[in-house]
Amino acid sequence: MELATVDGTCGKMGFPTELLEDYLKSEKKVKAIVYACGPRMLLLKVKEIAASCGIPTYLSLEERMGCGIGACLGCAVKSAKGGYKKVCRDGPVFEAGEVEIW
Ligand code: FES
Repeated sequence: MELATVDGTCGKMGFPTELLEDYLKSEKKVKAIVYACGPRMLLLKVKEIAASCGIPTYLSLEERMGCGIGACLGCAVKSAKGGYKKVCRDGPVFEAGEVEIW
C-alpha cells in the first residue's frame, strides 16, 4: 500500500493519481483492474490515466438521489453513447467508458 498527501505529511507529497500513474506505468504492474470512488475530478483523472495505459476501469459515482428507484432523474449522468444513465438504477458502478464524468 502506498499513501499520498497533498502536503506530504504522510506518504508521497502529491495526489493519489500520481501514485496510480507511476504504478500503472511501472514494471510492477502485473495485471491490473482499477476500481475508484471519490470526487469527480479524481474520477476524471483516474479514467484518463487508466485509459492511457489500457487498463479496465470501474468508477463508483456519487450523485444526489431523490427517489432512488429511477423515477425522478435527479441522479442522471451523461452516457458516453448519448442520453443518460441513472446512478441509482444503472449504477452506481459503471465501466469508465460508459459515462461522461464531466
Ligand atoms: S434518484 Fe431518482 S432517478 Fe435516480
